[in-house]
Amino acid sequence: MTGAFRGDPVVRLAPAKLNLTLAVLGRRSDGYHALHSVMVPVALADRLALATTGGASDTLHVAGADCGPAADNLVLRAIAAARTAVAVELGPSIETPPLAARLEKRIPVAAGLAGGSSDAAAALDGALAAWGVDLPPAARLRAAASVGSDVPFFLAGGWAVVEGRGEAVSPVRSVRAPAPVALLVTPSVPVGTPAVFAAWAAGVRPSGRGAALAASRHLADELRAGMTARALLVRAGILAHANDLMPAAQHVVPGLVALRRGMIRALGTAVGQSGSGPTLWVIYPSVEDADAAAGAVRDALADGRIVSPGDGPPAVHVAPLVLDPPAIVPTGSDGSDT
Ligand code: C5P
Repeated sequence: MTGAFRGDPVVRLAPAKLNLTLAVLGRRSDGYHALHSVMVPVALADRLALATTGGASDTLHVAGADCGPAADNLVLRAIAAARTAVAVELGPSIETPPLAARLEKRIPVAAGLAGGSSDAAAALDGALAAWGVDLPPAARLRAAASVGSDVPFFLAGGWAVVEGRGEAVSPVRSVRAPAPVALLVTPSVPVGTPAVFAAWAAGVRPSGRGAALAASRHLADELRAGMTARALLVRAGILAHANDLMPAAQHVVPGLVALRRGMIRALGTAVGQSGSGPTLWVIYPSVEDADAAAGAVRDALADGRIVSPGDGPPAVHVAPLVLDPPAIVPTGSDGSDT
């Protein structure tokens, strides 16, 4: 049941994120892991439309990539969290009628790009807009964190240093234009974040202890001081190694080792991993350069120089990093496959 929209829907673009760095500091008593990460939005986005319909309950219709049963989708959890937060903060008399949500899914699922969390942040913000109510920033943040660790980052909306389990989001200035452009290669193997953190907790970690944290802190300092796109590109080789979850992801999906090695050989450059994987990334100075690299990856996949785990070829996307201002993905950057 999708229900017909009444009037104009509220529309939000929900961008993917890339971890330029990801340091895991330790396991916390609540079972989550303490992080230090520089996270940036990229112009590969899902599209969410929300409207009241007069229906009896919230509904979700998903088009595009398969992301499992709608009932488990974070969009519905985020709308419910927004409704609860409104009742707690503003009182039960405020009306928060059921919403019909339509999600066009373009971001690969369970890929380390936090598409589901971004959808959730868009749903939280969009639900409040559809109801015509607002919440204090702290209440929005609490509601976001209750839905998932990556959701607060998307609510903040720009480049950020992310700490705690993900809820401590400190905005930093993005690099200055021209926007560096990410090549994203996502093998068709969904990777569950809990399994990767569990492998890290069991001791599957990088040999260079503290290197990712040092790189992450250094990048955060450079961004705070004001960084050019060129300086970021010069750093890319170091950043590509600054992910403490890479060995753990490779433990969960052993084929990631060969994929990364094949990409390094075919592209002649360092290759990073976003979040808990399996998406691998390289950043380039321009769309033309990233497109050329995407072509080289496809050629190498076709003739067997790159072998990717999973059923079928990986998804290959070219997506500029989203600079501020604006802190949202510009209309028209629909993240379509190149
Ligand atoms: O918060 P979220 O539901 O997105 O987290 C999914 C899972 O990822 C958690 O249940 C946990 O296993 C792992 N996780 C973690 N430390 C974090 C974030 C996520 O261990 N900071």
